[in-house]
Amino acid sequence: MTHSQILRRLGLADQPLGVAIGSRYSVGDGPAIPTYSPIDGAVLASVGSARSTEVDSATYAARDAFHRWRMVPAPARGELVRRFSLVLRDHKEVLGALVTLEVGKIRAEAEGEVQEMIDVCDFAVGLSRQLYGKTIQSERPDHRLMEQWHPLGPVGVISAFNFPVAVWAWNAALALVCGDPVVWKPSEKAPLCAFACHCLLQSVVASYDLAPDALSCVVNGGREVGQSLAASHDLPLVSATGSVAMGRSVGQVVAGRLGRSLLELGGNNALIVTPTADLDLALKAITFAAVGTTGQRCTTLRRLIVHYSIKDALVDRLKRSYDTIKIGDPQEEGVLIGPLIDEDAAVMMVHSLKEARAQGGTVYGGERLVEGMPSGAYVHPAIVEIRHDAPVVHKETFAPILYVMTYDDFEEAVAVQNEVPQGLSSAIFTGDVCEAERFCSASGSDCGIANVNIGTSGAEIGGAFGGEKDTGGGRESGSDSWKSYMRRATNTINYGHALPLAQGIQFE
Ligand code: SIN
Repeated sequence: MTHSQILRRLGLADQPLGVAIGSRYSVGDGPAIPTYSPIDGAVLASVGSARSTEVDSATYAARDAFHRWRMVPAPARGELVRRFSLVLRDHKEVLGALVTLEVGKIRAEAEGEVQEMIDVCDFAVGLSRQLYGKTIQSERPDHRLMEQWHPLGPVGVISAFNFPVAVWAWNAALALVCGDPVVWKPSEKAPLCAFACHCLLQSVVASYDLAPDALSCVVNGGREVGQSLAASHDLPLVSATGSVAMGRSVGQVVAGRLGRSLLELGGNNALIVTPTADLDLALKAITFAAVGTTGQRCTTLRRLIVHYSIKDALVDRLKRSYDTIKIGDPQEEGVLIGPLIDEDAAVMMVHSLKEARAQGGTVYGGERLVEGMPSGAYVHPAIVEIRHDAPVVHKETFAPILYVMTYDDFEEAVAVQNEVPQGLSSAIFTGDVCEAERFCSASGSDCGIANVNIGTSGAEIGGAFGGEKDTGGGRESGSDSWKSYMRRATNTINYGHALPLAQGIQFE
């Protein structure tokens, strides 16, 4: 499929792109932002952007849509999401091709991302009949005490380039069944993916008579657009995925108006390999987690904490495995590592490797690959043997750099795993059930995700996704994450003829 065929099949060829408020598309009054393919640096499109007045128009329209959508029964809201999941199934390949083109993911991972959208839609459809509240035993005679969950209001979604379609879907599928429209500010590095998702959803909205038009809005743009969303009183919840700096700023603005924010920020994910680990399994998991998506997942493995007795053998095998991985155009069969998103990412990788050397690290790999490559930022993934407390190890560099450090006893390994500011994902490879349980216990990993004998990345949608500390504390996707998208009302109903007060208080 050519670039223009992809855009045409996704409904993007004939629309002005920049701002979409339901079925109304415009280029927006903000500056045009070119979007490039990281594969070869080619300009894919020049996409417009929103001014703050247009962000306001989108949030007003979403609020109007909310007033109608909240009255539609939740299972009927689920029907919209079910129909959307069918459209996604029909467009899995072409939407995956756009993800590859716009952010450089290899085909399998790009289509996997669309599959994740389908999965979360299916999850949300089931959820639309299960937004349960509790009935609580009242201490008063002839009283019923219960909780109801009601729609919250329009949800602002700010997403990053690395998951340009799935993260929106994690939020949107849940928000829609919970009764909330969505106003989306995608990464300005991946606006085409956002408008493609919007067009696909809009095709379903247009043919569903219960659905108001502005259930979905997209406002492209940079920091100012994100700040306008964060400041908008029309958005009781803002869900933001990206850097810690971005999350801190959005979180403060939202908190300033006493809104809710759901933050999924940086990770500095570690994997512990113990002497009883199955090393074949560990090797595969480490490789996928460290170099998959060219090291640009929030859950990418960044720190490998290995027992000193097996470090040399494991690092040796890892280097050999890295040497055989095919790097190049992600559209090509057999390629496992595509380009970094842009030149800035390559510069940051070079800078971190320089810092690592200056802090006593020994670097293997990490070179820029030019020969035989298209003109994107292609790099060899790096393995860096370094002290666990070197400052560079404690920051997240969004690139395929794996820091390797050793440990002697189990408690020390857990302490090293927990010593960084971020707390997203973690894993242990061990054959010892006690170590596995201790790692998952209250005194084990302090992350939102703690895995045993699988890597740090590649989460399933059924679990709640997110992390602690600088990762922001938010949870998206499965389990009971839906509760963030609703408001809880506690109802006490007196069906008697007296007015007993709680705690036995007499007031007469
Ligand atoms: C992410 O890392 O951002 C997505 C989830 C995952 O791959 O585990």
